[in-house]
Amino acid sequence: MQPSSASLSYDYSVAKLFTYTMVIFGIIGMLVGVLLAFQMAWPAFNLTILGDYAEFVAFGRLRPLHTNGIIYGFMLSGIWASWYYISQRVLKISFNEHPFLRALGYIHFWLYVVILALAVVTLFAGFTQNKEYIELIWPIDVLVVVLWVVWGLHIWGAIGVRREKSLYISLWYFIATFLAIAMLYITNNLQIPTFISGYGSLLNSVSMYSGTNDALIQWWWGHNAVAFVFTSAVIALVYYFMPKEAGAPVYSYKLSLYSFWSLMFVYLWAGGHHLIYSTVPDWMQTMGSVFSVVLILPSWGTAINFLLTLRGQWHQVTTNPIIKMLILASVFYMFSTLEGPIQSIKSVNALAHFTDWIVGHVHDGVLGWVCFSVMAATYHMVPRMYGRKLYSAKLIDIQFWVQTTGIVLYFTSMWIAGITQGLMWRAVDDYGSLLYSFIDTVNALHPYYVIRGVGGALYFVGFLIFVWNVIKSITSGDKVEKEPVAATPISAS
Ligand code: HEM
Ligand code: HEM
Repeated sequence: MQPSSASLSYDYSVAKLFTYTMVIFGIIGMLVGVLLAFQMAWPAFNLTILGDYAEFVAFGRLRPLHTNGIIYGFMLSGIWASWYYISQRVLKISFNEHPFLRALGYIHFWLYVVILALAVVTLFAGFTQNKEYIELIWPIDVLVVVLWVVWGLHIWGAIGVRREKSLYISLWYFIATFLAIAMLYITNNLQIPTFISGYGSLLNSVSMYSGTNDALIQWWWGHNAVAFVFTSAVIALVYYFMPKEAGAPVYSYKLSLYSFWSLMFVYLWAGGHHLIYSTVPDWMQTMGSVFSVVLILPSWGTAINFLLTLRGQWHQVTTNPIIKMLILASVFYMFSTLEGPIQSIKSVNALAHFTDWIVGHVHDGVLGWVCFSVMAATYHMVPRMYGRKLYSAKLIDIQFWVQTTGIVLYFTSMWIAGITQGLMWRAVDDYGSLLYSFIDTVNALHPYYVIRGVGGALYFVGFLIFVWNVIKSITSGDKVEKEPVAATPISAS
C-alpha cells in the first residue's frame, strides 16, 4: 500500500545546506551591489587609497563578483533549496527511503561549494572569459557541467522512483531550467584553451565563435539565463508555495499549460533584443523585438494564474505576510515583463540601450520578483524543515516595507537617470553638433546614483532583517507539534 504524503518523513538535510549558502551569498552579493552603487556615485569608494591592492575592490573587478555571486550563489541556492524540499512532496517520495537521492544531493551541494569558492577566487584575481553572465574560466566551466549533470541525475532519479503519477506544474519548470541551461551553457562555452597552441596559459581560452556570431550566441545565452534562471525556476517556486500557503488550488490548470508551452517557445527567440542596431542582420533584430512583445502573453498568463489562485482568499493579504510577499513578487513579475517588451521596441531601445534604464529594468525584476519569491519560499520552508514557528511577523512586515521602499528608490532613480542619459547623448544643436559631452551626462546622473545607493542600502538592510528572522526562527521559534497544512505559523511576538 502507498503511504500517504502526510505519513512520509521527509529528509531536509540537503535543502537546509542550500538555504545556508543562499543566506551567505545573498549577504555578500548585495553588500557588493551596494558598494558598486556608491562607487558610481562617488568614485572614492573604489578605494584607491589601498594602493596596489585597490584593483581588488575596483568597480571592474567587483561587478562580475556581484552578478555571479548573486545569480549563481544566492539565487541558485534558493532554487535548489526549494528543489530538494518540493521534489519530495510533489513526487510523494522521501530521500530517507532512497539514500542514492540523498547522496546525489550531497555531491551536488559540495561540488557547488567548491565551484563557488573557485569562482570567487578567480574573479577576484581577475580571471574571466569576458562574456557577461558566463565569466568563469574554462576549467571551472567543466566542473559546472559535471554539477549540472549531477542535478539532472537527481531530477530524473527522483521522477523515476515517484509514487505520484502526474507531474506537478513546478516540475515542468524545474525540468525546463535544467534542459535549457544545459544546452545554452555548453553552446556558449565552446572555447579553445590557448595552452594548446603552446603559447597561451592554462587558464585562458578563446571563443569558438567570432564577431557577430559570437554576439548572437552570447545573447542567446544571456537572455535565456534570464528566462531559465530568473524566470522559469522562480515560477516553479511560486507555483508551489503560493497555493500551499494560501491553502487554495492553482486557479487554472489550462492556463498554466498554455503559459508554460508558449513561454518555452517564445523565450528562445527573443535574445536578439539585446543586439538592436548592432551588426546582427536586421531581420534577426526584428524577430527578437517581435517575440519579446509576444512574451507579455505567457508572462502575464502565469502571473494572473498566481494572483487568481487567491480568489476568495484576498483577506490573507492582511493576515499572511508570506502571501503579501508572493503577491508583490507576482506584481513585479508583471511589471518587468511589460517593461522589457517596451524596451525591446526598436525606437525605444535606441534610447534605452546602454543606459541606466536597463539597469533599472534588471533590478525591478530581480529585487521585486526573484528575491521576494526566494525569501517567501524560505519563510515557508524553514518552519517545516526545523519544526519551529517563524520568529516574528512584525519583522517580516518591517522588512517588507523597507525593501519595497528600496526597490522603488532603485528603479525610479534608474528610470530617470537612463532616460536623461539617452536624451542627453542624442541631443544636437541646429548644426547637428552634440550638445553635451560625456562628462556632462555623468554630472547630471550624480543625484540619481546617490538615490539608487540609498535604495540599494535599504534593500540590503531588509535582507539582513530577513536573515535575522530566519536565524531566530531556527534557534528560538516556538516548537510546532504538527506540520501546518496551509499558512505558516508565526510566534506571537
Ligand atoms: C517579457 C519579458 C522580458 C523582456 C522582453 C525583456 C527585455 C529586455 C530588454 C529589451 C533588455 C535590454 C537590452 C539592451 O538594450 O541592452 C533587457 C535586459 C535585461 N533584462 Fe529583461 N526582459 C524581460 C524580462 C526580464 C525579467 C523578468 C528579468 C529579471 C528577473 C530580466 C532581466 C534582464 C537583465 C539581467 C538584463 C540585462 C542584460 C545586460 O546585461 O545587458 N528581464 N531585457
Ligand atoms: C542590495 C541590492 C543591490 C544593489 C545595490 C545592486 C547594485 C548593482 C549595481 C550598482 C550594478 C552595476 C550597474 C552598472 O554597471 O551600471 C548592478 C548590476 C547588476 N545586478 Fe545588482 N544590485 C543589487 C541586488 C541585485 C540582485 C539581488 C540581483 C539578482 C538576483 C542583481 C543582479 C544584477 C545584474 C544581473 C546586474 C547587471 C545589470 C546589467 O548589466 O544591466 N543585483 N547591481
